[in-house]
Amino acid sequence: MIMNIEEAEKNIEQKGFLDLEVDVKLDLFAEIERLKKEKNAILLAHYYQEPDIQDVADYIGDSLGLAQKARQADADIIVFAGVHFMAETAKILNPSKKVLLPDLKAGCSLADSAPAAPFRAFKEKHPNHIVISYINCTAEIKALSDIICTSGNAEKIIESVPKDQPIIFAPDRNLGAYLNKKTGRNMVLWNGACMVHEIFSLEKITKLKMRHPNAKLIAHPECEEPVLAIADYIGSTTQLLKYSQTDTAMEYIVATETGILHQMQQAMPGKTFIPAPPNNSCACNDCPHMKLNTLEKLYLCMMYEKPEILMDEELRLAAKKPMDRMMEISKAAGLIG
Ligand code: 13P
Ligand code: SF4
Repeated sequence: MIMNIEEAEKNIEQKGFLDLEVDVKLDLFAEIERLKKEKNAILLAHYYQEPDIQDVADYIGDSLGLAQKARQADADIIVFAGVHFMAETAKILNPSKKVLLPDLKAGCSLADSAPAAPFRAFKEKHPNHIVISYINCTAEIKALSDIICTSGNAEKIIESVPKDQPIIFAPDRNLGAYLNKKTGRNMVLWNGACMVHEIFSLEKITKLKMRHPNAKLIAHPECEEPVLAIADYIGSTTQLLKYSQTDTAMEYIVATETGILHQMQQAMPGKTFIPAPPNNSCACNDCPHMKLNTLEKLYLCMMYEKPEILMDEELRLAAKKPMDRMMEISKAAGLIG
């Protein structure tokens, strides 16, 4: 363990975070609250963050809600408890703020499945197509796109495009196939996927449904088609949470990352939420990238204002254009205020 801040800062690129000892006697919840006030910082967290981080956040949301909050934030510092593309999106939308991410190595298998060079070549093979990209991609892919979407607004975004306009959808093949079915389009799909949502076991979910005949299966559209085919409801993390709050069932099997269960259980203590089992020996399904962030790393990053997201301005502006288009369409559709 590295003991001083100068050494830790030198190693930040290699490690991804400030590798410093944190006094075990510190009340990290109180310290993070103090740092928020002292530094005029806002803490945004995705639902897949560990419960302790969710509990100390100012706002918890899906990618659409988080992007909107980041864009509107008037604090001096945006601390992003999520993965790299989310913090990068915050910087794209609100560049005058300092954007911090507790661990720079908190990546995303889906974003990694679309590297810029092969994607550019793929795009060149489909010259008359426009590109709609899921927000789970790098700034380079955003810059090669015409419109960005999230799981919360994808249908509306696609519907805003004339029916005879050919579309490339990237990077998630499962979300793309689901949207093709929903909208009746025939979008050309980039062959990417999320490691967390592709690992659910149809066999184990089917058995679980038999053991809990009154439970509804609710699933994220990044899941594979056979899981989506037996789902009672499909939606973004916020939509899954809202559905389970307004729906009358008392039991749910939840096919997405397990972090969301924390908010579901808090909002509805009388209902039962069962994580859908993956295709391995684990009982639930954690995103290894999201879970790289810890309360200790969060505290250290707020304390020393590192690691920070920095971007090339030309790339930022190119990536902002399709993000702005997404925001305009979402606003016109009444999905955001
Ligand atoms: P949403 O929270 O926007 O549904 O996204 C899910 C996800 O996989 C984020 O990485
Ligand atoms: Fe990426 Fe999947 Fe993890 Fe979301 S859950 S951050 S899409 S790997």
